[in-house]
Amino acid sequence: MKKNKLSEPGIGARFQNETKYSPESLAGHTLGLGPIPAAFKEYSNPIARISLPEPKAGGETNIWKLFLKRRSRREYIANGSLKLNDLSALVWATQGLTAQFGDTFFRTAPSAGALYPVETYLYVRAVDGLEEGIYHFRPGDYDLEFLKKGNFSVSLAEAALQQSVLLDARVTFIWSSIIARGRWKYNQRAYRYAYVDAGHIAQNLYLAGEGLGLGICAVGAFYDDDINKIMGFDGEDETVIYMATVGFRSPDHPI
Ligand SMILES: Cc1cc2nc3c(=O)[nH]c(=O)nc-3n(C[C@H](O)[C@H](O)[C@H](O)COP(=O)(O)O)c2cc1C
Repeated sequence: MKKNKLSEPGIGARFQNETKYSPESLAGHTLGLGPIPAAFKEYSNPIARISLPEPKAGGETNIWKLFLKRRSRREYIANGSLKLNDLSALVWATQGLTAQFGDTFFRTAPSAGALYPVETYLYVRAVDGLEEGIYHFRPGDYDLEFLKKGNFSVSLAEAALQQSVLLDARVTFIWSSIIARGRWKYNQRAYRYAYVDAGHIAQNLYLAGEGLGLGICAVGAFYDDDINKIMGFDGEDETVIYMATVGFRSPDHPI
């Protein structure tokens, strides 16, 4: 990793600066720079499409208790399968459709301009009724597109700086951003919003997972090119921005 002196402004400061709104920068600015990209992604030739069961709340549902109990949990029991119903509840909590106004579908998590640039992928290690591999979630059809068969736990863990939490997880959520969905409206500022959106989504996963007694851990440390290669993204039009693991909590580790 290149050393960056703390006193040097660096790309982070430039990013903040160049994506800043001010009355001057917005003067005369009209939103809407080009054609609006599709709000939903689908693959033309998935191995299969698997409908998800209707999501049902389970376990602890008192939101105030969940705020109090939520933790990042990294120690998992490395066997057993997650119930498909629980996976459905987690997926719905993160990106389920909840309302429609005109052509816009609204979701469980907020999104800048209701543009929803974040796509949800799952690496399924062990879930009842699902083959092991990588899946893509379609919120509109409420199903999973099966994209790649196989065990990706080691390659994902290696790409995530060898973090063992990815080895024992039953499922790993992998969130990408489709930059064009935000750029037609917000241009460079769309990059900020994609990350903010992902944070909302991940918090919903944390709270839903806590309710179901599962262990969730956010993962922001990864080699971007390696993860993008596993997922088949170019890293520009679509790029992985965040991940989170789901596992069975180890009783030996309260957190
Ligand atoms: C943006 C972001 C990235 C994170 N990346 C990782 C990670 O790569 N590995 C990990 O073990 N925890 C990761 N975490 C979890 C934090 O370490 C955790 O939230 C923090 O220690 C506070 O603990 P708590 O979540 O239990 O309250 C991340 C959290 C955030 C918000």
